[in-house]
Amino acid sequence: MADKGDSCPVMTFPLAPKIQHELKMKFGSFDKGLVAVGQGRYLLQPHCRLYLDKYAQFRFRPDDVVVMGFPRSGTTWTQEMVWCMTHDLDFTTAINTPLRERSPFLEGDSFSGPDLPLPSFLVDSFLKQHPDEDPRTTGVYLARAESHPSPRIIKTHLPFSLLPPSILESCKVINVARHPGDVCVSYYHYQRLAKSVSFKGDLEEFLDLWCRDLVMRGPYWSHLSEAWAKHTHPNLLWLYYEDMNKDPLRELQRLDHFLATDLTEDEQLQVVQHSSFANMKARPATNYSLIPESPALVPGEAEFVRKGATGDWVNRFTPQMKAKFQLMMGVVLELSGAIFNLLSTQVFNVLR
Ligand code: A3P
Repeated sequence: MADKGDSCPVMTFPLAPKIQHELKMKFGSFDKGLVAVGQGRYLLQPHCRLYLDKYAQFRFRPDDVVVMGFPRSGTTWTQEMVWCMTHDLDFTTAINTPLRERSPFLEGDSFSGPDLPLPSFLVDSFLKQHPDEDPRTTGVYLARAESHPSPRIIKTHLPFSLLPPSILESCKVINVARHPGDVCVSYYHYQRLAKSVSFKGDLEEFLDLWCRDLVMRGPYWSHLSEAWAKHTHPNLLWLYYEDMNKDPLRELQRLDHFLATDLTEDEQLQVVQHSSFANMKARPATNYSLIPESPALVPGEAEFVRKGATGDWVNRFTPQMKAKFQLMMGVVLELSGAIFNLLSTQVFNVLR
């Protein structure tokens, strides 16, 4: 039976007790379990119910740019490029100010663990603006996204069904997609790194959860198919991580055209250089793992900006894991028909 959060019109659904128990055992920070949210049954932590209605009613501005995609698909990279392109190539600020301060993360309140400290830069500015409100209940990430000066580059991993239905009529949206094998490996590392998750198992155990649609923010395929259903909308730009890795200048030129930023080729090359993997990995402003004693990250795990490889999943999966993954993908492709067949022939080439 569905639950409804306080004054929350987005439906949430409890998971079976056996599944909840399994998740609590495998993730160090899911002691309250997870809930399935909306028609897509996306898995989030239960305190998301405080904010879901606010996401669905968020007021986007015409000059906003929303960067979306399933986690670990290349959204941070895209954010950095878009921020520079829309902020007069202000590389000095980009190098010296953490990206998360320059570009709001819409649903950060749902993602940061309910018992972990909130980032002080958000709490301080929140309390200046809302001295009588509770940062946790109102949502510091949300308040920041609401008050951030234009042009806002807003990042979200939420699928379209949890965002305002009119979002594409309100502003420009960029969706980044990446091969699910690489997303799965990258997400595994990230889920070990993020204290709000603290996955305790190995890659094989994570893959098992992935194939059973039991990873937070999953199912990946539903997220992707919701976005793909809108990919021809003129206000949606579809990027592939693989294309960005192969030919960053060409993809940046697509961004330039979409955003009407009108950069010269020299300026485009400067953005490509600034946002290269090596540069983003070396800078604390984009690689949060380099911020000393970052309270949200587990020490000793792979870095936030990690490897930046394409197709590396084939080296990480054992033959048994590959067989399981490809079987699952075959089923998904079979069930979902033309949409994913088209996707697979373009980039994912999943049945190879
Ligand atoms: P890997 O873990 O495979 O290295 P997101 O920002 O959507 O969560 O995606 C994170 C993934 O993008 C990580 O993948 C990260 O290393 C990669 N990434 C971040 N910046 C990048 C860049 N400039 N070039 C290539 N990959 C980048």
